[in-house]
Amino acid sequence: MQTQEKTTETLPNTTDFLPLKGTDYVELYVGNAKQAAHFYKTAFGFQSLAYAGPETGVKDRASYVLVQNKMRLMLTTPLHSDGPIAEHHKKHGDGVKVLALWVDDAYDAYEQTMKRGAKSYMEPVTLTDKDGEVRLSGIHTYGEVVHIFVERKNYNGVFMPGFRKWESTYNPEPTGLLYVDHCVGNVGWNQMNPWVSFYENVMGFKNILSFDDKDISTEYSALMSKVMSNGNGYVKFPINEPAVGKRKSQVEEYLEFYEGEGTQHVAIATLDIVSTVKQLMARGVEFLKVPSSYYDDLLDRVGPIEEDVEPLKELGILVDRDDEGYLLQLFTKPVEDRPTMFYEIIQRKGAKSFGKGNFKALFEAIEREQEERGNL
Ligand code: FE2
Repeated sequence: MQTQEKTTETLPNTTDFLPLKGTDYVELYVGNAKQAAHFYKTAFGFQSLAYAGPETGVKDRASYVLVQNKMRLMLTTPLHSDGPIAEHHKKHGDGVKVLALWVDDAYDAYEQTMKRGAKSYMEPVTLTDKDGEVRLSGIHTYGEVVHIFVERKNYNGVFMPGFRKWESTYNPEPTGLLYVDHCVGNVGWNQMNPWVSFYENVMGFKNILSFDDKDISTEYSALMSKVMSNGNGYVKFPINEPAVGKRKSQVEEYLEFYEGEGTQHVAIATLDIVSTVKQLMARGVEFLKVPSSYYDDLLDRVGPIEEDVEPLKELGILVDRDDEGYLLQLFTKPVEDRPTMFYEIIQRKGAKSFGKGNFKALFEAIEREQEERGNL
């Protein structure tokens, strides 16, 4: 797996029409937000931040906002069987609805993307309370996922108007998760390039890396992927589509069980992956396991690294190198009963890539799980 990643990085010096300051929050629609929030606190070490629901005047849903360092996660559940949230959950199960992006001007973000062909999800709106104002707008992306632009420079409250501070007596320790590194979308057959064009033309992103089915294939299945990045690199959205293989690929399995396109994984950065993964495992987070033979010639493949190999091997942490450095990463199993969304834990030591050298070992691990589910 030492083939060269195809880099097509040419960030021109034109003005960025959609300057992004990062990921503002990720919102999941789930079947039971109260219990999901407990899971993310207990297993992942997120902290209670804010709440909206009947007690705050919201009649159709309950939303819990959790935080760990710079990452905010919102869990929303419908309170009745009718309405878009219930419909979404019935079709997809638990999954990502909103990839919210932090901007300086939510009204301008909407105008700039709409005039370039975006489909509106939420017209610009200004929410106010005693702590100031938050301005929001939103557009659709792949599947039923949406981007909400969040402008919070004139807000001093805990999250945004409509939410109250969520005080809890149950506050498990954080696990060292820092911020969203990237969020990957799974799209249908022949849909990768149209969505690459969407991110290029509507949002001003660039395609910084491409992987074809020869890069990402095992004996049985294949996929293709293109990584889209905004101008400053704070927001990265790889887009996967299935490719023809002997058997059903992991992207096809996702599309079948999610009943459509959606967010495959959210990668969360840490500064100490050994410590973070140790804690996550002790708290019950389940990870994909590569065979221990992966570590036999690890240093020959990736060159010298600062970490001892033994703990990496014990925890199953993967390593890959590119021209700029190396990265350590590990993937959870899906966090739902449907084989759909999962998380990646990533520590970058200079590397800006996505672990291509690990794809084969990793996908073979995924296929062993697919086989157990009878979906290969
Ligand atoms: Fe990833």
